Amino acid sequence: MKINPATEQKINDIIEKMSLEEKVLQMFQMDKSAHKEAYSELSKLNIGSYLSIMGEEVDYLREKAKKTKNAIPPIFGIDAIHGHSLKNGATIFPSQLAMACSFNEELIEEMGAATAKEVNADGLDWVFSPVLCIARDTRWGRVDETFGEDPYLIGKLGAAIIRGYEKDGLVASCAKHYIGYGEATGGRDSYDTEVTLRKVRETFLPPFKEAVDAGTSTVMTAYGTLDGTPMTAHKELLTDVLRGELGFEGFVVTDYLNFKLISTKHRVAANPAEAARLGITAGNDMSMNAVAFIGAAIDEVKNGNIPEAAIDEAVRRILRVKANLGLFEEKERMPKSVIACKEHRELNHKLTRESLVLLKNNGVLPLKNAPAKIAVIGPNADNIANQYGDWTFTSHRPAEEFAQIKNDYYTVLRGVREIFPSSEVEYALGCPVCGEDGADIEKAVRIAESADIVILALGDELSQNGEAKDRADLELSGKQNELLRAVKATGTPVVTVMVTGKPLCIGEVLESSDAVVQMFGGGDLGGLCTAELIAGKFNPSGKLPISYPRATGALPCYYNGYSSWHWGKYCDVEKGALLSFGYGLSYTEYEYSDIAVSKTQVHMGESVKISANVTNKGAMAGDETVQLYVTDHYSSVMTPRINLRGFKKIHLEPGETKRVSFTVTPADLALVNRREETVVEPGKFTLYISPCAPDFTYEDGEYARVIEVVE
Ligand code: GLC
Repeated sequence: MKINPATEQKINDIIEKMSLEEKVLQMFQMDKSAHKEAYSELSKLNIGSYLSIMGEEVDYLREKAKKTKNAIPPIFGIDAIHGHSLKNGATIFPSQLAMACSFNEELIEEMGAATAKEVNADGLDWVFSPVLCIARDTRWGRVDETFGEDPYLIGKLGAAIIRGYEKDGLVASCAKHYIGYGEATGGRDSYDTEVTLRKVRETFLPPFKEAVDAGTSTVMTAYGTLDGTPMTAHKELLTDVLRGELGFEGFVVTDYLNFKLISTKHRVAANPAEAARLGITAGNDMSMNAVAFIGAAIDEVKNGNIPEAAIDEAVRRILRVKANLGLFEEKERMPKSVIACKEHRELNHKLTRESLVLLKNNGVLPLKNAPAKIAVIGPNADNIANQYGDWTFTSHRPAEEFAQIKNDYYTVLRGVREIFPSSEVEYALGCPVCGEDGADIEKAVRIAESADIVILALGDELSQNGEAKDRADLELSGKQNELLRAVKATGTPVVTVMVTGKPLCIGEVLESSDAVVQMFGGGDLGGLCTAELIAGKFNPSGKLPISYPRATGALPCYYNGYSSWHWGKYCDVEKGALLSFGYGLSYTEYEYSDIAVSKTQVHMGESVKISANVTNKGAMAGDETVQLYVTDHYSSVMTPRINLRGFKKIHLEPGETKRVSFTVTPADLALVNRREETVVEPGKFTLYISPCAPDFTYEDGEYARVIEVVE
């Protein structure tokens, strides 16, 4: 977030000329769909922002604003969270969770820049992205929007996408949802997040620090409460920490109707006036909807309950972002031709390939020759809405906007037909994701029996992913497991493709399938890249950013938990996650060897290097994400048994060896103590270089070296 003295002076001059009502209107964001009657009145005034408005109406509203007294331009926001994904015909990239499987900061930054161009070309200014929530209870409905379960990975990928969004000054980004939203008890959307401020600093704040350091223009407050305080009213976290400690200079927008939720859901404010006072003095600058906020805020200033200086400060931050975007000068926009352009499609192709994760392969893949007959079966084999997932035009726009989908998209079925043109390809739904309408397992069995291989696409659907769509049961829904058993029983090899928004309980899928591929929200090209992976057109490199539970009741199962669990397992399921963070197979083998540290005794404040050789032992070139983890042996507060503290994606030709090094800094060894101070405590640590989350150890090992930090 850049501060330009000339701009600041201009902003001060504008504020000098504004009435109290004009100032408060700048602090309001209008969603037309929610309040049609209010919209017709308020859009006559000069309100600060609109959300989810697209097309000609944007220009109309911009022109109207020019005719108002101070002609302050509105800022138009949209949920472009995996490309300009609410626009029919724009490039739809894989979901955040899918992108995270790439562990590729460069590609994700490029994806952010491409999205910024398409959003800007479409006349809009602000993307409500990235989501920095940590998905550790996967019953929560919004796991697909996250970069997974690890704060370090989330922070690095969040910073990468923000750099992409912000670097050309085309759109403002929005780090959300501040803070701890994904950690609400029970995976319940917007419920209370029952953690201490120390835990906030240890786990949930680091991604937001990365976001502020990467230059995010805005932050969005979460729906919920943290230890009983509505995030919209949390002065300590919104002002003292976010601004005071992290140095955030942009503006804070609430989530949808938060100024209303303080009264209706949280019952912390008895009326809109009290809600406005709590929220504005806590540090919120803009209210997303909640029309009553406008009058309440004006009255509270007039009654002397809110200092007008607080209003001025909020308006200053909002105008600062608008000025940085060049909205006052009507900067030239990107040409419409960038929308879904060839370069973005090529970028999407690369990112989608790297977003797929090979979870099992008994040798059936890659298919050496095109099979004579392929049976493509399953509810997600040819369902683009389920493949796109949440926050796309198929999930969030009126159906008339996509009666004709303009995107040149590939489901698994179309991808298989494209990549195996000489094969006979037969399709059967088998069964729906939920329920049994249209189920025809018998037909699926018939085509499986006569095929050389089955590609079975299972998973979840839009009714099971998204806001307020928390699940109490993560087993495959409907008759999907029955379909799997019936197809398996034919004896034809089965490659199962999980097309899902989150990890499901896929124990039976892993056991019964010859190979399993995970496609989290696959975007336009998920089906094509899956077929390319099956055909061996590229070597899969995806790694899991999130762990899979053995059963719904075995949650949370994230890798960086504590070592204090009594026997470390539930008595009725096997120990550990079904699949763990950092896991992913390829068509080659990577050997790790000769791990070494630059010194075993490290003085406080010093860094230390750890290195290892990584060799491609197979016949196929590939990319391997080498991971750095840390364990603090003993500390004044209990710390997670291991933590990711670095990753590097390297390319290796067959037989090639590269030595990979990481510099471990004091920040990588730090903890947050009981006094909420971030400190490094002397003592022993284990450093690991590993292909996935390793087992915790106090000893040197194949992937581990012990060091000691001394005063
Ligand atoms: C939604 C979401 C938020 C989104 C906003 C605008 O309810 O919680 O992530 O950006 O409202 O659509």
